[in-house]
Amino acid sequence: MTARALAAVVLALLIPAGTLASDDVSLGGPFRLIDQTGTPRTEADFHGSYPLIYFGFTRCPDLCPRSLGTMGAAMDELSARAPEKARRLALLFITVDPERDTVAVMKDYVGKFHPRLVGLTGSAQEIERVTRNYGTLYAPVPEEGGDYAMDHSGFIVLMGPAGEYLTYFESDVRLDELVAELERRIAP
Ligand code: NI
Repeated sequence: MTARALAAVVLALLIPAGTLASDDVSLGGPFRLIDQTGTPRTEADFHGSYPLIYFGFTRCPDLCPRSLGTMGAAMDELSARAPEKARRLALLFITVDPERDTVAVMKDYVGKFHPRLVGLTGSAQEIERVTRNYGTLYAPVPEEGGDYAMDHSGFIVLMGPAGEYLTYFESDVRLDELVAELERRIAP
């Protein structure tokens, strides 16, 4: 199943037919993860800000780098247009491949995208819990030579300052659309 198909399945499960209204969707919840500096982080650390969250893995060839690139560019664009709103935006990348995406690997990786991108990893159980709560599906796909890739749903979730779900974006969302929606959603 492609990442896009996975995303469609998740959304079909989460969102009643005919509506994308955030009121009808319950995503989110507590997590206990570790950031790229080795510091434990919970969802409460991000209360008061608007976390824009993407789930993926550092060895992802295309989908993850594109989405994270768009998120970083959106932060820069919003900083130029509405700096006080940009300060309230948080960028989170949560790995679905915690076995290989260690703290050190995450540190190298997130540094390529944006200085404010927070990379989160954790135990397999914690990753399983946070992905379930935030509506992400993933599955290892064996590759030649005993290696594996991770198939994963690829949408970007925006949470509110009290940890509430606000909306989501496709992984290939246009930069101007993302920025406009962030500017509209983030309270002044
Ligand atoms: Ni990916």
